[in-house]
Amino acid sequence: MADTQNTPEKHDKLSTEPYKGVRDFYPEDMAIQKRIFSIWRDTAEKYGYEEYSASVLEPSALYRAKSGEELVNEQTYNFTDRGEREVTLRPEMTPTVARMIAARRRDIMMPARWYSIPNLFRYEQPQRGRLREHWQLNVDIFGVTSLNAEIEIINIAYDIMIAYGLKNTDFEIRLNNRKLVNHINKDVFALDQDAAHKLSKILDKKAKINEETFVSSVKEIFAERSEDAKKFLALINSNNIEEFISHLPQCSANHESVREVREVMAGLERLGITNVSFAQTLMRGLDYYTGIVFEIFDLNPENRRSVFGGGRYDDLLSIFGNEKLPAVGFGAGDVIARDLLETYSGLNDTKNTSADVAICPINENNTPYALDIAEKLRDSGVRTVIDFSNKKIGDKIANANRRNIARVICIGDEEVANGKLTIKVLSSGEETITNESDLLSHFKE
Ligand code: HAM
Repeated sequence: MADTQNTPEKHDKLSTEPYKGVRDFYPEDMAIQKRIFSIWRDTAEKYGYEEYSASVLEPSALYRAKSGEELVNEQTYNFTDRGEREVTLRPEMTPTVARMIAARRRDIMMPARWYSIPNLFRYEQPQRGRLREHWQLNVDIFGVTSLNAEIEIINIAYDIMIAYGLKNTDFEIRLNNRKLVNHINKDVFALDQDAAHKLSKILDKKAKINEETFVSSVKEIFAERSEDAKKFLALINSNNIEEFISHLPQCSANHESVREVREVMAGLERLGITNVSFAQTLMRGLDYYTGIVFEIFDLNPENRRSVFGGGRYDDLLSIFGNEKLPAVGFGAGDVIARDLLETYSGLNDTKNTSADVAICPINENNTPYALDIAEKLRDSGVRTVIDFSNKKIGDKIANANRRNIARVICIGDEEVANGKLTIKVLSSGEETITNESDLLSHFKE
C-alpha cells in the first residue's frame, strides 16, 4: 500500500531541517566527531578495553526491568513492529551490554573490559548539552569485586577530561554510594520503601528545583516526624564527608558504604587525582546501580550538565536469570564533549582535510596522465583528489587551498612529456621539482 501520509501535496516543499533534536553531520562536523571518537578510542584502548557493538533496536522489556521510571515512561522511542513485538530505540547501552555478557557468560574471560560508542535515543526537551540522539562512549569492566574497578573506571574518565583540554582545577568528580543512601533511609531513618523511593527522586531533582520546594517535599515525606526531617536536611546540607558523618549515629561512621567512598577517594589520590568530592545528593536516575556512583562536572557555568555518569551495578545480569556479576562503568556523551573541546581546546585546529594532495590537470588532454599519477600516489596510501573542472589553473589551486589540501601538483603538456613534476606546498608557496620515479619519496612522513 502506498504511504500517502508523508507524501507532500503537489506544491508543498519538504523541510531540509533534520528531525527535532537530532543532528546532521556535515563533513566539518564529522571531522570534530572523529576527533572526539579518537580521544575516546585511544584512551579506552590504552587501558586494554575491547570494542563491541550492537543494534539500535532492542525489545522494550529490556528497559522496563531496571532503567528507571523517567527513562522508560517519558524518554523512550517505542513502536510495535509488524509481528506485534514491542521495540525500543536504545536510550542507553548498559542493558544491552549486560544482555550480551549474560548470553555468553561462560565463554567470556573475566575480567572483561569492554567499550562501545553507540548512538542513543531519548525523547528529551532539546537544550544545550541534551539532544534526542547522541553518541555515548560506554566503558565497562565486568568481574571485579574490589574497588580497583571504580578507581580504574574513574581514572579513564579523568584522562578523557584532560584530553578534552581541561586542567584538574576546571572540573570536579562527584561521588556517592547507593549503599549509603539505602543505609540512611532504612537503618537511620527507618523509612519504608515508598518513602525512600520518593526521597531519592527528590534528591535527584535537588539541583533543578528551588530550596523551598525541596525542603517542603522532604518535610512532606517525613510527615509528623519533623525532628527526623530536620536531621535529614542537616545531613543533606553538609559540606563534606566529615561533616556528613558527624550528623550520623556513631555506628554509621564505620559503615561499609562510608569506607568504600573513602577508599575510592584515597585510591584516586594515590594516582594524583584530587578533584574528587563526596556528593550526598548524587542519586543517578538509573535503578540498577548498587554501590559507588559518580558524575563529572565541568566547573565552568557555561557547561553545567554532567559530562560523565556511571557507577557499580552488580545485579543487572540477574534480570536474565544469570547469577550476579560485578560490573562498573560509565557513559560520556558527544554533545557536551564538543562543547568542552570548543571551550578548552578550540575547534579551529580540527580542519576538515579531504586529501593530502590535489592533482590539477591544466588541459583536458592532461587528465589521463594525471590519473596515472593519482593512482600511483593512492596505491601508496596518499589521499589524492583530481580537479576535473574546466576552471583556470589558478582557480584550481585556490580551490585546493580552500579545502585545506596541503599540496598541489599541476600537470600540463610539459609534465606529461618529460615526467618532471612540481609539488607545491600551499601554506608556504615552496616548490619541489621531482622525477615521477621519485615522487613517492616526497610523501613519506
Ligand atoms: P547517563 O547519566 O544517562 O548514564 O548518561 C551518561 C552521559 O551521557 C551523560 O553524562 C551525558 O554526557 C550523556 N547524555 C545523556 N543523555 C544525553 C542526551 N539526551 N543528550 C546528550 N548527551 C546525553 C547512562 O546512560 C548509563 N547507562 C551510563 C553507564 C554505563 N553506567 C554504567 N555503565
